Amino acid sequence: MINRTTLSVPELEEAARDRLDSAAYDFYSAGSGEEISRDEAHRAWQEYRLKPRILRDVSEPDTSVGIFGTELASPVIAAPTAFHSMADPEGEVATARGVAGAGSLLVLSSRATREVEDVAAAAGPWWFQVYALRDRELTREQVERAAAAGARALVLTVDAPYVAAKPRVRRPLPLSAQDRLSRDVGLDTRSSAWEQDPSIGPETIARLARESGLPVLVKGVLRPDDATACVEAGASGVIVSNHGGRQLDRSVSTAAALPEVVRAVGDRVPVLVDGGIHTGTDVLTALALGARAVLVGRPVLWALATGGSEGVRSMFESYRAGFAESMALAGAGSVRAITPDLVAPPYRAG
Ligand code: FNR
Repeated sequence: MINRTTLSVPELEEAARDRLDSAAYDFYSAGSGEEISRDEAHRAWQEYRLKPRILRDVSEPDTSVGIFGTELASPVIAAPTAFHSMADPEGEVATARGVAGAGSLLVLSSRATREVEDVAAAAGPWWFQVYALRDRELTREQVERAAAAGARALVLTVDAPYVAAKPRVRRPLPLSAQDRLSRDVGLDTRSSAWEQDPSIGPETIARLARESGLPVLVKGVLRPDDATACVEAGASGVIVSNHGGRQLDRSVSTAAALPEVVRAVGDRVPVLVDGGIHTGTDVLTALALGARAVLVGRPVLWALATGGSEGVRSMFESYRAGFAESMALAGAGSVRAITPDLVAPPYRAG
């Protein structure tokens, strides 16, 4: 077994690449277009510089955070990603067990390969990601099922009115007949009953909140005006995301977009962020810029492919340990002490 706690995200990806079917690896890894946004995501976090404090008691950095009343071991959450059964035979059930073992939170993709009730049975706290489908009845059914199974919030992904072309994804995916959705979801969404509705507006946020009785976070926000509109339309949180560089290529990096969105939202609702978050210092930077929590997508898939649920657990532990170290070195003994002045101007964007 690989000792994942010592592996960086690129090393974990390399190990996963050796084990995965190559079509599955390409699907997980790919960005859209020329992969500009995908490639710059992590680099954009590296642009920031920090101003650590000294002579603070950092003997026991407390990495825990609360969100919507749920206490988490650290602010690192599993982003919704599709088709986990290509990485592990147990699919999202294995992911859920690993995430729960680390005291983190799972955002379950609506493109999961396992039934939502089975994943819920293995999960700790979890949220359900949803697309507003052309078939509203189907969307409502999915949402009601997730709420009944114990989802604590919905994540409405809005940056994919259409699924962007990914030149690296050309071959059929190794999904088995048993994989839920495999009969419905092709790479060609035009032929799919699960097609996203490209005509939706902000009113969808309140509709889903009403139908589910759950808080709705909006994922895929990159602009302050959109963030404000989402909050005014009833969003309980916004997630700054460019879908891991898988939708509009050359979309601004989330590291650059975050400060503006935080300023627009203020303290009305929590702002979360994802994209290229690989190290504890990335997490520290995101929180100093005003994020309540961060999500990681591909790293979960690499951990699942190399070590199953234990790999996922150990990867989240590794993020937590790295974050604790960065906090201590920055002179922040608790998450509350991670304040904007830790980021040095002029690197503090916006
Ligand atoms: C995704 N993402 C995604 N988002 C979503 O809302 N629903 C989904 O089903 C998926 N599926 C998906 C599959 C794969 C293979 C990837 C890589 C990504 C986007 C995901 O939630 C997240 O925004 C990015 O993955 C974050 O970037 P990193 O952490 O992968 O760099």
